[in-house]
Amino acid sequence: MLLKNIQHKPLKHYSDLHAHEFAEKLLNRMTTKEKIGQLYQAPYYSDTVTGHAFDASSTIEEIKMGMVGSLLSVHDEGTLFDLQKVAVEQSRLHIPLIFMFDVIHGYKTAFPINLALSNTWEPNLIYRIAKAIAYETAHAGIHVTFSPMVDLVRDPKWGRVMESNGEDPYLSSELTKAYVSGYQGDSLSNKNAVAACVKHFAGYGFVEAGREYNTVDVSKRKLFTMILPPFRAAVSQNVALTMTAFNTLFDRPATANKYLLKDILRNELGFNGIIISDYTSTEEIISHKVAKDEKDAAKQCFDAGLEHEMVSRTYLNHLQSLLEAGEIDYSALDEAVLRMLMLKYKLGLFDDPYRNLYTNSKQYMLLENTKKLAVEAVEKSVVMLKNDKLLPLSKHEKIGLVGPFIDSKDLIGEWAALCEKSDVVSIKSAFEENHFPFKHFEETAFEDLKNDNEVKTVIVALGESGAHAGEGNSKTNLHLDTHQQNLLKSIKQMDKKVVLIVFAGRPLILTNLINNADAVLYAYQPGTMAGIGLFNLITGKTSPSGKLTMTFPFHEGQVPIYYNHLKTGRPFDEKRPTYRYNSRYIDAPNEPLYPFGYGLSYGVFIYTNLRIDKQNLHPNEQLNVQVTIQNDSIYAAEEVVQLYIESEYYSVSRPVDELKAFKRIKFNPHETKQVDFVLTMNDFRSYNMNMIWTAEISKYQIKVGPSSSEKLSQSIEIKDF
Ligand code: BGC
Repeated sequence: MLLKNIQHKPLKHYSDLHAHEFAEKLLNRMTTKEKIGQLYQAPYYSDTVTGHAFDASSTIEEIKMGMVGSLLSVHDEGTLFDLQKVAVEQSRLHIPLIFMFDVIHGYKTAFPINLALSNTWEPNLIYRIAKAIAYETAHAGIHVTFSPMVDLVRDPKWGRVMESNGEDPYLSSELTKAYVSGYQGDSLSNKNAVAACVKHFAGYGFVEAGREYNTVDVSKRKLFTMILPPFRAAVSQNVALTMTAFNTLFDRPATANKYLLKDILRNELGFNGIIISDYTSTEEIISHKVAKDEKDAAKQCFDAGLEHEMVSRTYLNHLQSLLEAGEIDYSALDEAVLRMLMLKYKLGLFDDPYRNLYTNSKQYMLLENTKKLAVEAVEKSVVMLKNDKLLPLSKHEKIGLVGPFIDSKDLIGEWAALCEKSDVVSIKSAFEENHFPFKHFEETAFEDLKNDNEVKTVIVALGESGAHAGEGNSKTNLHLDTHQQNLLKSIKQMDKKVVLIVFAGRPLILTNLINNADAVLYAYQPGTMAGIGLFNLITGKTSPSGKLTMTFPFHEGQVPIYYNHLKTGRPFDEKRPTYRYNSRYIDAPNEPLYPFGYGLSYGVFIYTNLRIDKQNLHPNEQLNVQVTIQNDSIYAAEEVVQLYIESEYYSVSRPVDELKAFKRIKFNPHETKQVDFVLTMNDFRSYNMNMIWTAEISKYQIKVGPSSSEKLSQSIEIKDF
């Protein structure tokens, strides 16, 4: 059979019950060896097997023998077809393979990196984006994406902050739900859907000193209040898989951590899908020095509840002898295999193993609507950090375009699946396409720029390369290189107005840069439609509306710096800023350069009259919160309105502010709106001293504003919870 002759059968939707019945029958026909095979994820390309000797033909032989359950990162239709054909035609039980791949912020159309996407604060947009990503991914023949990555992050030195939803557990949870439901749709048999894999369970975002694969050491309270909520949110949307983390937690590698995988993920969060390791993280517990050899590693991970092993072969090599020796349980093996077979069944692979494998998958990629959505994503994710009456620019004046990123296509960022730089629209080409008057100055032609009296405003595009962030790219220096810093300085000295655009995979330290610019747009890595989205913002076709989801430090020494920190017994006192025995630095402020939730707009939003409809909240009651917001400008614009609470006393110290609600609201020029929020008792609960999720008798401040550092406030009492 050839790829082009495949007859795609319509896929049926199967209930869990139906899938379970099917899987059980099949399970009864399987040998132990075949069952163990279902728990193995094989690599195929040699660049996916870091540190291991590898030969693709042996994978094919193993597929024939029923020793492979899924494949990692295979992404070429012809190869997918050939490998699936081997599985369904040459293995004894004809069980199809699952194809899994990291499609993190786009398969072929690159959306902004996920950290940028979180700046949109718009779950519905994330949902639409996840759907568009799933569409391209599914029609490339992939069944599972290793996304969303929901690790809470506080340290921009860690390269993987680019994949995350930022530093707030509530915002991340709302976005996580949107990712999972967007990817998975209402049924995994939907041909436009893919199964999602939430990762990395758990705590990876807290690697010490931001150094990749380093130790994680957080309290149980931090785990429950900060790290788990987005995972809980993913489970609430029936996420199909959860991936373990590389790191230790409570001094035990996450992949072999029974407390994490069984007590928390299965029992506390109620996760019912497949638990997959990260890349070789099972055998890495030998390097963590908690397992003496491969066999011991297999036993420990299996006992902990790890079900599917990525790339390394500890299960393949040792589960059989462990079972025979009675060291692990056959019933646990059956349970894990059952889950795998059920997922395959629900994906429709037993009906059509060649699901969505076409010769012409290009017709599903980079569609106009997808690109339009990518433009919307850029427009809403870029954050305007500064604007001294410069933006938007008008077409009447010729502008200068300068800097290493002004015509660069290195704007996609890491984890970009098959997205290609050649599809990226640079800033310069967007200005060209739109016939906006400009002159591009090479760095060697700065004298021309200086002497060009027509050019009074210059757009300077600086940044870090995509390859500076992502996995394995931790860095200690969070500044742009000196060359770029000097370039900006020299342009500012020309007495021109400067719009600075920064591309990066993380928050950088901008403290010295911002004084050399009149307006600053922080664009992260905006993806395929970067130039178009930025052009629309710069020229005022649309107003910036992104708000930061990671705090921007004033100085590296402040890191980790985040808005929802606990209080200190000796807070900084503005009236006595130099008082030695308060919590402060002698050489830098406590405050960040830009706080969580911050972002400017062409609109001017005036918040007044925050009101709540009761002074005391009783159980089962709702608290209605309303605020008046006026757009005192001639620009139509969207504003992300944020609601935080602060507990005035509680049995444990709670964050100075906790985000509890947010809304993105559209305003016409000069429009005034009343914005409503509803809170319930659950919004005031936290884990108390005994780790019980509860409110306590207390007073709370309800705060509403445009960022975490600017809010109106009202207080409410809780006397009975
Ligand atoms: C990463 C995962 C990823 C996996 C498969 C690992 O190195 O930590 O996030 O899903 O590789 O590519």
